[in-house]
Parts: sequence; C-alpha cells; structure tokens
Amino acid sequence: MNRTDSPPERLAGEPPCATRRDTLRFCAGALVGMAAGLGQTAIAAEPARARPQPGDRLVAADAEGTPTPLRLADVSAEGKPLMAVPFDAATGTVRDGSRLNKLLLLRLDPAAMEPSASKHAIEGVIAFSAVCTHQGCNITEFNAEKGLLLCFCHFSQFRPAAGGERVAGPAPRRLPMLPLKLDGDVLVVADGFTSRPGATL
Ligand code: FES
Repeated sequence: MNRTDSPPERLAGEPPCATRRDTLRFCAGALVGMAAGLGQTAIAAEPARARPQPGDRLVAADAEGTPTPLRLADVSAEGKPLMAVPFDAATGTVRDGSRLNKLLLLRLDPAAMEPSASKHAIEGVIAFSAVCTHQGCNITEFNAEKGLLLCFCHFSQFRPAAGGERVAGPAPRRLPMLPLKLDGDVLVVADGFTSRPGATL
C-alpha cells in the first residue's frame, strides 16, 4: 500500500476522521466509497430496481401474467416503438421497480443506421432508455417520417439511427442505448446502458 492510499496514523485521542488535511482527505474518500457501496448493495438487494444486466431478456412493459420474453418479430417495422422492461429469466424478476429501466424498442432499416447505432442493434432492432435526458419525462412518440423520437415536455428530439443523438430541444445529451443480441430469435441484453439513464442534473 503506498502513501496516497494509506490511512494517516492517528494521534492518541484523535477521532477516526480528525482535523489534519491528510486524514480528512482519506476519510472523505472512505465515506464516498462507503456511500457508493451501500447504494450498490441496496440495488443488489432489490433486483427489480437493478439496471439491466447482460443476459436479461426483455418483456413488454404493459404485459400481465407470466412474463414472455420478446422476440425479434414482436418489434414492429411500422415505426411504433414498443415499451419494454428488462427481465431476469433465471429468477423470474421483471426489473420494473425503477422507471429508469423503461425502454423503447424500435426496428430501423439497418442500412440507414450510423455505426454508433448499428453496433448496439441486432437485425435493425435497437433499444433506448425511454426517459428523456432533459428533465426525465417519458418519451413515447416516434415520428417515423422524420426518424425522430420526441419528448413532448419541452420538445427535445433524438435521432435513433444516429445512436440517440439529440437534434433539437433542451436535452443536453443523447439517449442512452441498451446493447442487444439474440438467443435464437429472443432479444437479450448484451451489455449495460451506454450512458447513465435519466434526467441530467
Ligand atoms: S423532459 Fe424532455 S425535453 Fe424536457
């Protein structure tokens, strides 16, 4: 352990986080690490709130009864987005405990996709966070003619074929994508979100 990651020695009677600058720096780092660890532990203890994990399947967000993993053919090529949430088939957990897990599935023309989009899509099907990166409204609308996802709260627009790039409105960053792959014809999460979902604080 080198000097920078070693806790400074305490003097007799000093509290664990005392007044010396080195000690404070170490203690502050330790507290931040503890908080992050506690947050991860809390999410791990609530799998329905955990972010999508590699290997998760997807199910329709409004489905009732036994969860049925979505297949390629379930995503329409007619432009209407399909609202979905991740599903851990191993434990039967639908990860709908956080609205940050809401997803929009679209089927686009693979030939019209930029590499930033196609590398996370599978056979034209691509998944985006359904939560606007401005102030967190749900995005529900896709204008197929213009190829744009629309947020009606403050009219941000995002281009899915360009990897969710913002093209208009106050949203400060692109929509996160959720990389997909296939198991047979079943849609499977290949990796975590490409960036943090939700509003930009
Ligand atoms: S919340 Fe979407 S544009 Fe403001």
